[in-house]
Amino acid sequence: MKRVVVVNGPNLNLLGKREPHIYGTRSLEDLNQTVREKARSLGFDASLFQSNSEGDIIDFLQKEGPGSAGIVINPGALSHYSLALYDCLQALALPVVEVHLSNIHAREEFRSKSVTARAARGVITGLGFAGYGLALEFLAEQ
Ligand code: DQA
Repeated sequence: MKRVVVVNGPNLNLLGKREPHIYGTRSLEDLNQTVREKARSLGFDASLFQSNSEGDIIDFLQKEGPGSAGIVINPGALSHYSLALYDCLQALALPVVEVHLSNIHAREEFRSKSVTARAARGVITGLGFAGYGLALEFLAEQ
């Protein structure tokens, strides 16, 4: 079965409890379940990972990225400053879709800049859980 890598960055383990007016009331486990089911319906096995640590995310991507059909990543705040994560995504040379649950352009100004987005084919921002499903659909078409 084709494999797809789905990564959530810092603080996304707090989904459901963290600023629910922005990120909703469903948990990371709910998100993982939705992602797993959507991936399977598209013929993908999903390698799921969440970490609050930049280095652990990079290690996971370096290990799991090669041989996969692509990457769906919500880097959380790493989007706004992590050149190490940007370099990692570039190095993998895979189709990447960056996803944000909230609309990063409708919030604090610092959020509207994503340094990692440059390594992505595209960015889906503000569509909540649906963004991950749309990202998987895109990867399935590649
Ligand atoms: C986020 C947006 C980021 O600005 C923030 O730091 C997050 C979550 C989102 O999914 O909307 O942690 O990536």
